[in-house]
Amino acid sequence: KERVFSGVQPTGNLHLGNYLGAIKRFVALQDSYDCIYCVVDLHAITAQLVHEDLKGQTRSITAAFLAAGIDPERHIVFNQSAVSGHAELAWIFNCVARIGWMNRMTQFKDKAGKDRENASLGLLAYPSLMAADILLYRATHVPVGDDQKQHLELTRDIAMKFNIDFSGKIASSGRAVETIVGEERIDAYFPLTEPLIEGPAPRVMSLRDGTKKMSKSDPSDLSRINLTDDADTILKKIRKAKTDPDALPSEVEGLAGRPEAENLVTLYAALAETSRASVIAEFGGRQFSEFKPALADLAVEKVAPMNGEMRRLMDDPGHIDAVLAKGAAKARVIADETMADVKDIIGFL
Ligand code: TYM
Repeated sequence: KERVFSGVQPTGNLHLGNYLGAIKRFVALQDSYDCIYCVVDLHAITAQLVHEDLKGQTRSITAAFLAAGIDPERHIVFNQSAVSGHAELAWIFNCVARIGWMNRMTQFKDKAGKDRENASLGLLAYPSLMAADILLYRATHVPVGDDQKQHLELTRDIAMKFNIDFSGKIASSGRAVETIVGEERIDAYFPLTEPLIEGPAPRVMSLRDGTKKMSKSDPSDLSRINLTDDADTILKKIRKAKTDPDALPSEVEGLAGRPEAENLVTLYAALAETSRASVIAEFGGRQFSEFKPALADLAVEKVAPMNGEMRRLMDDPGHIDAVLAKGAAKARVIADETMADVKDIIGFL
């Protein structure tokens, strides 16, 4: 079976964007792939070093994985810092990647803001650690939301440069997979990972501004639906969601240029596991005052069971820690093998 890897940062509350863009896909991929799902705590300290309750946040993401239906017996669920290969391979990739590649990352520009000189060096190197996460397991497929696309392209660039730079050494290591790069046939060690950006809603937008993505770091809690929100909170947030004054269009095409309307219809379709066209077939021509309660009911129906299960799991942190420890032990077996190969290929004694 081919291998899937993906990660979620333990910063702030998980929201519907994380669920529909990523975690729901993680669950669906379990039947066709060997899956590795990671709580990326090393990434969490890049933008903000000190966290009030990083352990609790890490457990909470793990609880969300389990509550959503990820099976830690058949697959691997662990936290990044527990497997030292991530940091080790990231260092090597820091020497593979070029500063110019990192400077071009839109997420770095967004997160560093105007005072770039004062951002952590880790924030700049973030994509190199992300490439290490994926390639440490030589994963072939990575399910993510649309916002991670550029980082996955960079992951392929890093894999490609490593493969080309060490092509001769890779060939003699006996672990090569022949790959065609352009016209050239080379001996590759790392796969060129495919992004899977095909969740039901790969880009969920803020409820307050349909041109901005729903984000854990948005200062307004009204901008997102958290997986931990109770029914009343979800109802309130959807009631207050920004919309334009018109009724829903009678054709899907009519959503163009109406970002807030488009977002709410996309959310409904993703939650109901149907197409936007069939949502419009049902609600086309109706006012938001009718559509919003239907959307709110659906969101509550889908989020509430997960919410309850997350709470139940969080009551037993010892169990969550044991799941993570077991996952880390399984991950380490694969990671150690890759690191031994990489060290041999580079020529570390
Ligand atoms: P993170 O923690 O910000 O988000 C986790 C996942 O949720 C997706 N996502 C969204 N999808 C749709 N609409 C949205 N509004 C939305 N917001 C977030 C993200 O695309 C992501 O899939 N860099 C990654 C974590 C990471 C990683 C990795 C992912 C570290 N190493 C290796 C894949 C492979 C991140 O910050 O995700």
